Amino acid sequence: MSAVLEARHVTKRFGGLTAVDDMSLAIPEGVIYSVIGPNGAGKTTFFNCLTGFYLPEEGQIEFDGRHRLDGRRTDQITRLGIARTYQNIRLFPNLTAIENILVGQHSHLHASLWGVIFRTRAARREEAAALDEACRLLDFVGLSGDGDVLAKHLAYGDQRRLEIARALATKPKLLLLDEPMAGMNPAEKDTMIAFIRRLRDALGITILLIEHDMKVVMTISDGISVMDFGRKIAEGRPAAIQRDPLVIEAYLGRGAVEAVEAVAAADGGADRRPASGDRPTSPNEA
Ligand SMILES: Nc1ncnc2c1ncn2[C@@H]1O[C@H](COP(=O)(O)OP(=O)(O)O)[C@@H](O)[C@H]1O
Ligand SMILES: [Mg+2]
Repeated sequence: MSAVLEARHVTKRFGGLTAVDDMSLAIPEGVIYSVIGPNGAGKTTFFNCLTGFYLPEEGQIEFDGRHRLDGRRTDQITRLGIARTYQNIRLFPNLTAIENILVGQHSHLHASLWGVIFRTRAARREEAAALDEACRLLDFVGLSGDGDVLAKHLAYGDQRRLEIARALATKPKLLLLDEPMAGMNPAEKDTMIAFIRRLRDALGITILLIEHDMKVVMTISDGISVMDFGRKIAEGRPAAIQRDPLVIEAYLGRGAVEAVEAVAAADGGADRRPASGDRPTSPNEA
């Protein structure tokens, strides 16, 4: 399977701090792929490099096997087919749900300024189609009754889904979700897991996800990369990642691996690992 996104040796520094350090990653088309790692590991900064928010000092990023992304503007990258949501919800709180989606579609509308001002037939037709599509997206994310509700009045989980609907309005091939389940309760998380799977299965979108909840990550991911101090320290399928000593150490600190092995030995079972669902998750940063 070909890679829809390939990052090679990406490095991003802030002054003396190397936030992303020689990151390479290839995301096959049609998968749900997770980037995990302790707070401050560089996950969000890496996403920001992929979406053109930051220009990495080193490395290349290639989309769809033919577009170089590094050096392009965020709006150009959006138009190529990459959309994202943010770790902290970024909706327009005083716009309605439908209006928030219409804003997201903006990069795909073609009407000229002339057409918008003089309300030409083409511009009106495009507006009507945009509204139809926005309603369809609202329906897809399960908010069909909430089109006229101000974003700030939606429940938290619904705001997260609205944000995804807005991202979908740009018709992405690849969707980047930065901690979409932060602050959700277990039931909301289950709903979100099913929803993310539908994005892939019904819309054929490849999903790249940053997520802290290990239970969620292990349930949903086809592949995982683990970052620590800006670097990729492990990569693989969920079952292998859970058992990786470097990963356990990154999350729980030095000595954790020995402790885990000691507990496993005492239990007489090798399959009790802290990397399973009850492992402590790091708190969500601001
Ligand atoms: N704009 C910035 N300026 C300076 N330092 C930053 C900036 N953004 C992130 N950092 C630092 O880079 C490191 C990685 O941060 P981040 O990518 O947000 O980590 P994560 O998303 O994995 O928690 C942290 O040490 C953070 O403080
Ligand atoms: Mg982050």
